[in-house]
Amino acid sequence: MIRINEESKQFHLTNGTISYIFHIMKNGQPGHLYYGKALRHQDDFSHFQTYENVAPNTTHPFEGDPGFSLETVKQEFPVYGKGDYREAAVLIEGEQGQLISDFEYTSYQVEKGKSALSGLPSSYAADDQAETLRIQMIDPFSKVEVELVYTIFSDDPVIARSCRIKNSGEETVQIKRLMSLSLDLPEADYDMLHLSGAWARERHLQRKRLSPGIHQVSSQRGASSHQQNPFLALKRTTATEQTGEVMGLHFVYSGNFVAQAEVDHYDTTRLQMGIHPTRFEWNLSPEDSFQSPEVLLTYSDQGLNGLSQAAHRLIHDHLIAKRWVKKERPVLINNWEATYFDFNEQKLDKFAAEAKELGIELFVLDDGWFGKRNDDTTSLGDWFVDKEKLPNGIGALAEKVKAKGLQFGLWFEPEMISPESELIEQHPEWVVGMPDRPHTLGRNQLVLDFSNPEVVDYLFERMSSIIEETKLDYIKWDMNRNITEPFSKTGTAPGEFFHRYLLGVYELYDRLTTNYPDVLFESCAGGGGRFDLGMMYYAPQAWASDDTDAVERLKIQYGTSIAYPLSTIGSHVSAVPNHQTLRETALKFRADVAYFGTFGYELDPSQLTEEEKAEVKKQIKTYKQVQPLIQSGTFYRLSSPFDQSETAWMLWDEEKREGVVGWYKPIFYPNPKNNQTLKLRGLSESASYEVAGLNRTFYGDELMQRGLPLGIEFNGANTGSIDRGGDQQSHVYFIKEL
Ligand code: DGJ
Repeated sequence: MIRINEESKQFHLTNGTISYIFHIMKNGQPGHLYYGKALRHQDDFSHFQTYENVAPNTTHPFEGDPGFSLETVKQEFPVYGKGDYREAAVLIEGEQGQLISDFEYTSYQVEKGKSALSGLPSSYAADDQAETLRIQMIDPFSKVEVELVYTIFSDDPVIARSCRIKNSGEETVQIKRLMSLSLDLPEADYDMLHLSGAWARERHLQRKRLSPGIHQVSSQRGASSHQQNPFLALKRTTATEQTGEVMGLHFVYSGNFVAQAEVDHYDTTRLQMGIHPTRFEWNLSPEDSFQSPEVLLTYSDQGLNGLSQAAHRLIHDHLIAKRWVKKERPVLINNWEATYFDFNEQKLDKFAAEAKELGIELFVLDDGWFGKRNDDTTSLGDWFVDKEKLPNGIGALAEKVKAKGLQFGLWFEPEMISPESELIEQHPEWVVGMPDRPHTLGRNQLVLDFSNPEVVDYLFERMSSIIEETKLDYIKWDMNRNITEPFSKTGTAPGEFFHRYLLGVYELYDRLTTNYPDVLFESCAGGGGRFDLGMMYYAPQAWASDDTDAVERLKIQYGTSIAYPLSTIGSHVSAVPNHQTLRETALKFRADVAYFGTFGYELDPSQLTEEEKAEVKKQIKTYKQVQPLIQSGTFYRLSSPFDQSETAWMLWDEEKREGVVGWYKPIFYPNPKNNQTLKLRGLSESASYEVAGLNRTFYGDELMQRGLPLGIEFNGANTGSIDRGGDQQSHVYFIKEL
């Protein structure tokens, strides 16, 4: 997959679907030649980078060769201070305060497969699934070395990129900016797509046309954030959901990040993604190394949907822990919105018994089971059971729940500490913030200093003890506030704090998932505030949003599906009026939306009427039909809530030749048109299909070209013959090839 022209030092990474080509330029730096749909291999690609047009005032490193200017050449790892005035991939400060680097190629290696990144989550691949190229360079002045790492996957249109810096010099240097990926594209006719939002309305799809200047999404919150997701796509302006070129960047990281597209004065685009440079100052003593997180670069020539499908496959096959990928996740019930902090053993016992009756498989006890936590002002950090609420202990409760045939799960918020807690009295030095300045609260809580290994050890001991006492099946790992006063009282260098904090979080995740591989982790950050591939490496599902309102969830889940597979999207049916929007929605509508994720309930079963209980039982059976498709089906977005009044999507299993379609119309518009249909995708044109509930068969071409008939809608006069009408219309269609 990696073809090399030894003489001209050209590297062609190709798997028959994509090509990524670069070479070593005459100044020793790697220059970019091509990225996109696979190209036939040529012995020489050097004509892809020509130097004929440069303005007279351009700076150039070689005397008598004004054409070769770093201001205009396409590069792989641009440096600062040598004539490229766009954003550099790297800034390394030497002892004299200089930021100038001059990396020159020294060697390369090719390996089969892909190695893990030390201390960081990353994609994985066996020897026959990928090939990795390492390019080594050195700055002859500072003796700082760089290794650029490229992995190409054999069956996926994806390149993983990361880099490593080593200080082989004699002076300590400081890394001030390090992009995991920098890629120069020859054009700028792209729309930039990103997933932005806020608490309770995460990952709404945003689109803007590129124009000269820098277009950026980022987080400086210490978490990847509700506001901007660490994902960015560039779509050709003519590309659509199903056609045309789109490329996407995912950051396998959960903290401060930047993702940007910089369009220059020649309408070329520099794409970059990495740790946010603000307050990132990494000291590198002689012989020390720094490993960057990984970026996954995905390509599609089949529109945005094609990009999502490729990313979903990659995440399933090469990022989520293998043991969870095919494993059906339990249908869960979470007591949070049913009880908040107000529960005791009896209440929970009854809750669990009723849940079991309904067919639920996992009972999750949310916040409030530890310390003296009767509201959100206290006890975070004190991970000892609250004997007032649970006098027989947490182990006894777990035993009772399990005796009913349910699995048992618990909520933790390991990274936090309450100002009113025993832990803070014992270890005030473990709190993030400066000793002599006020500490800013968020949800009445402070943050534990995960850059301090003692904190990680403490949490590991506490959580392990609870996991063992309860024989725990599931953990919901929450994080309800962002970081302020980023400062460690125990000596972490301030410029290293954010990254070291995250390394501590990953270390705890790693130790827990290694020691307790059967515990299913669901990540959460006040809902979807850390929905990223860093988390997914350890926790294969994530609570998508605190907003469980089904109408709002259409946008949240649709937006999320652009970058992440459905098996990662925690989606539950909750009580009405909805606690975040006060909206009433039908139980059917809520379930029809929640089926397309990892399904569960967020309500008090004792508040359901007998009729509703019967409906819930049916819903769980329906989900059991959808569930295998969530894990192995291909996802097609059919109609967008961001563009239309209707949302639709489908999952199709190529092998089993069966699928499921979700269709939703939250608001009714009067006097609708006749013959409304929904055009499906991914079927075979000449095959016949049965659609459950519709008493005739269809050819694939009809379902894709004319569409699936949606039934007769109320028009004000046709009461006798209607199939549907009013607000919150929804339908889930099961389709099978005959
Ligand atoms: C925020 C989460 O998103 C909720 O689901 C719940 O777990 C609360 N925290 C508990 O404090």
